[in-house]
Amino acid sequence: MKIFIHGYVLLSNLLLIISIAAITAAEYNEADYMSDLLKALTPTPTGWSNKTHYCKWKGISCNSTSQAVTSIILPSSSLTGTLPPYLYTLTNLTHIDLHNNSLNGPLPYFGSLYLLQTVSLGHNNFTSYPYDCIQYLYDLRTLNLSNNLNLSNWVFPMDDLRNSVYLDTLDLEASNMIGSLPSEMFDWFPNLHTFIISHNQIDGNLPESLGKSTVRNLRLNNQGGSGFRGTINFISSMGNLAQAWLQNNNFTDRIPNMSNCTNLSDLQLQSNSLTGLIPPSLLTLPNLRIISLGDNRLQGPIPVFHKGVRATLEPNYFCRSDVGPCDPHIMILLEIFEAFRSPYFVLPPITGNNACTISPIWLSSNINGIWVKDGVFMIKCERGKIVSVEIWNYGLKGTISPAFSNLTSLVNLTLSGNSLNGSIPSSLTTLSKLQLLDVSNNNLSGVIPIFSSRVKLNTTGNVFLMQNKFRQGGGENATIGGDVQTRGSSKAKLRHVIWIIGQGGYGIVYKASLPDGRQVAVKVINESKGNGEEFINEVASISRTSHVNIVSLLGFCFEKKRALIYEFMSNGSLDNFILKRGFPDAICSLDWNKMYNIAMGIARGLEYLHQGCISRILHLDIKPQNILLDENFCPKISDFGLAKICQRNDSVVSILGTRGTIGYIAPEVFSRTYGGVSHKSDVYSYGMLILEMIGGRKNYDTGGSCTSEMYFPDWIYKDLEQGNNLENCLANSDEENDVVRKITMVSLWCIQTNPSDRPSMSKVLEMLQGPLQSVPYPPKPFLNSPERPSLQTSYVSSSNLLETNSAKTPV
Ligand SMILES: *[C@@H]1O[C@H](CO)[C@@H](O)[C@H](O)[C@H]1NC(C)=O
Ligand SMILES: *[C@@H]1O[C@H](CO)[C@@H](O)[C@H](O)[C@H]1NC(C)=O
Ligand SMILES: *[C@@H]1O[C@H](CO)[C@@H](O)[C@H](O)[C@H]1NC(C)=O
Ligand SMILES: *[C@@H]1O[C@H](CO)[C@@H](O)[C@H](O)[C@H]1NC(C)=O
Ligand SMILES: *[C@@H]1O[C@H](CO)[C@@H](O)[C@H](O)[C@H]1NC(C)=O
Ligand SMILES: *[C@@H]1O[C@H](CO)[C@@H](O)[C@H](O)[C@H]1NC(C)=O
Ligand SMILES: *[C@@H]1O[C@H](CO)[C@@H](O)[C@H](O)[C@H]1NC(C)=O
Ligand SMILES: *[C@@H]1O[C@H](CO)[C@@H](O)[C@H](O)[C@H]1NC(C)=O
Ligand SMILES: *[C@@H]1O[C@H](CO)[C@@H](O)[C@H](O)[C@H]1NC(C)=O
Ligand SMILES: *[C@@H]1O[C@H](CO)[C@@H](O)[C@H](O)[C@H]1NC(C)=O
Ligand SMILES: *[C@@H]1O[C@H](CO)[C@@H](O)[C@H](O)[C@H]1NC(C)=O
Ligand SMILES: *[C@@H]1O[C@H](CO)[C@@H](O)[C@H](O)[C@H]1NC(C)=O
Repeated sequence: MKIFIHGYVLLSNLLLIISIAAITAAEYNEADYMSDLLKALTPTPTGWSNKTHYCKWKGISCNSTSQAVTSIILPSSSLTGTLPPYLYTLTNLTHIDLHNNSLNGPLPYFGSLYLLQTVSLGHNNFTSYPYDCIQYLYDLRTLNLSNNLNLSNWVFPMDDLRNSVYLDTLDLEASNMIGSLPSEMFDWFPNLHTFIISHNQIDGNLPESLGKSTVRNLRLNNQGGSGFRGTINFISSMGNLAQAWLQNNNFTDRIPNMSNCTNLSDLQLQSNSLTGLIPPSLLTLPNLRIISLGDNRLQGPIPVFHKGVRATLEPNYFCRSDVGPCDPHIMILLEIFEAFRSPYFVLPPITGNNACTISPIWLSSNINGIWVKDGVFMIKCERGKIVSVEIWNYGLKGTISPAFSNLTSLVNLTLSGNSLNGSIPSSLTTLSKLQLLDVSNNNLSGVIPIFSSRVKLNTTGNVFLMQNKFRQGGGENATIGGDVQTRGSSKAKLRHVIWIIGQGGYGIVYKASLPDGRQVAVKVINESKGNGEEFINEVASISRTSHVNIVSLLGFCFEKKRALIYEFMSNGSLDNFILKRGFPDAICSLDWNKMYNIAMGIARGLEYLHQGCISRILHLDIKPQNILLDENFCPKISDFGLAKICQRNDSVVSILGTRGTIGYIAPEVFSRTYGGVSHKSDVYSYGMLILEMIGGRKNYDTGGSCTSEMYFPDWIYKDLEQGNNLENCLANSDEENDVVRKITMVSLWCIQTNPSDRPSMSKVLEMLQGPLQSVPYPPKPFLNSPERPSLQTSYVSSSNLLETNSAKTPV
């Protein structure tokens, strides 16, 4: 009873509040607003009076039927005063234009004026932008608040404008805007053609979405403070652009390729920190009329534009003040500097047209009263030719340009102590006078090209740089490539071997790219004793597979080196995501849904190998290292069928048709007492892999509280029996819990000791897709500890494996 009364009291209070609000709204209507407006404006606009209906006032338009105000147009009328706040009372308003007056005070609230299309309040004296003041303007086309020099600082009102998707003109010039532009902003306004925010204090990089926009008039110039940073590369994809005012900012780097900017007529780039050569595409823009490039760090020959282009070019660092080519040495140095990228401007700009007169620069610092020479920039010439380039401890980033090889007289090249990455260009091997190449203490990677023995090479302090292992057949190129036979039997060349992404007994896996830009993983097989035909047969059988859960072989090379070229998988292999000691959260980066999808994907791939191919393929080496994950975590089985060519004592064994990796091998593979090797052996490995994924730990590692003697699946089984959640990364809903339970039960079926007790992969898929109740409770797998070859070491070499087997397995 009490509760009821309490509820009643509350309810009546609420009603009271609602009715008060309703009365307030009803009381303040359009006529009130117009009357307030009349009082607010000084001088009273001619023809305005409370004796006549506001629809008759000058500059006011109304709907003739409903008498609702639809527009207020009073520009350039010398009006002062503060607009009454509740402008949103004028619900039918479509246009408001009061620009070029002296209105002051805060901007009024426009919110929810669904019909409003134009707001033109520029050139006034407004003092603040109230938060939320322009929300829900679904039909807004033009917002012009430019030149309100007394507005208190505000940031781009992204949240307020999110509904104004038809916006085509945005002019916020000189309105004291600060902060940076929201990264996705241009995606919200697909119709935007005019974007003006010059003369504010905005900084930061421009949103990437700008490059995809259809903006025609872009004015970002004269940001006070530090100005816009970063590159102006966004311009090169803006095909509609007619006017681009980017001057007086802090843009760096090169002028990009402009060939798509065919509509550009007015380009203002002066007073930034642009560097490098002028792209030829800028010189041939068909509609260019005005261009301004002065006060940058542009280099190379002075550009020559069409007749009729008004060009302002200086000051810059062009090699000469008249038209004509630069000295070839200068051009080579420019190309070299170009590759040093980011702190381009820390390099002394090459001035003049003679590389041999560039004065050396020593950077030094005073440490405890002693002057220490830190960095050196020095170019030495003999008889007018560059013989030595030394740039050390100079903070260079970027890469070593192949253009160094154009300095054909070069004797010494020292680039030590910088932060250069990339590889050592193989073209440097063509420098016939080279005696010293010191690239020590950088971040170089790749394979060191083979230099003549005359060259003193110092490559220390580059952790990822490798000695060339393929000296005998490889020639001087750093790439492992040569010709590559790609699928469909066209030949392609591999480029840019970038990085070692894997290494094992079989050889090394590199990341590289094909000429079409596709990134690939290149697995170079260690020299094999097997004859070439076997390799080709192997390749042919892999090529026959085509399944979304099997990594696709894109090509191979056979001559000189044997290598397989696969699609590149950005997420690497599954083992990266399985808990390792010291990385307690590793598995948590895969949620249960992802894990379920991975389990399903691997099962589908295996089912395909077992059933779907022209011939049945047994993988026999299913383990996390051989499951690659693409960018969407779609699993792909890799590394099958390689055993035959890997006859060395590696991780893969190929004796009597048995092979595999400890921890994943089915019992019948290492002891025939359990039956013959069959597709059920893959099922076993699959089960172990999934259990390992679920347990979030290596399967040979035992649970924290459990005794070290406990067999990993026993531990999982115990948890299952007790209905426990697995201790890592708890599933947080009943549904997830069911999924985990189901995957666990199916996996336990897969690792049954007797192959005939294990389900086929088709059955596995059926169980995984069906309800939990349809999966029978698995018997406890009974492989006991002594049967396991020393599980403390994981991927033992095959010789160890054989020894272990012969020692422990009763035959
Ligand atoms: C109309 O305006 C005049 C002055 O402009 C004012 O004196 C008068 O009270 C107003 N009448 C009404 C009904 O508001
Ligand atoms: C005027 O208002 C009436 C009634 O509210 C409406 O039906 C009509 O479409 C409006 N006319 C215009 C031109 O907006
Ligand atoms: C601004 O308004 C003043 C009158 O207040 C007028 O003289 C001037 O021409 C206007 N300027 C522009 C650009 O319209
Ligand atoms: C236009 O004004 C009329 C009358 O004030 C009002 O009933 C109607 O809701 C308004 N229309 C819109 C879209 O605001
Ligand atoms: C914005 O309004 C001002 C007047 O206040 C005008 O000069 C300017 O051209 C307008 N901007 C655009 C893009 O139309
Ligand atoms: C703008 O408003 C400020 C006060 O807020 C005033 O001092 C200044 O004179 C006004 N400027 C113009 C051009 O009206
Ligand atoms: C340009 O940016 C750099 C680094 O952010 C800064 O040091 C420099 O002062 C800026 N230049 C100008 C003109 O603001
Ligand atoms: C120019 O446009 C074409 C077609 O849209 C595109 O493929 C190309 O990458 C663009 N070039 C540049 C420099 O953005
Ligand atoms: C360097 O040499 C290559 C090959 O001879 C040539 O294509 C390139 O234009 C040269 N670069 C410069 C900057 O001279
Ligand atoms: C190259 O460096 C060596 C020392 O490493 C020096 O003796 C030699 O004079 C240098 N040669 C030139 C041309 O600078
Ligand atoms: C190689 O470079 C390192 C670091 O610059 C230097 O300490 C070392 O002495 C150099 N080695 C030789 C053989 O010159
Ligand atoms: C290096 O590769 C290039 C292009 O692939 C080739 O023309 C050149 O002959 C190769 N050099 C050697 C020494 O193999």
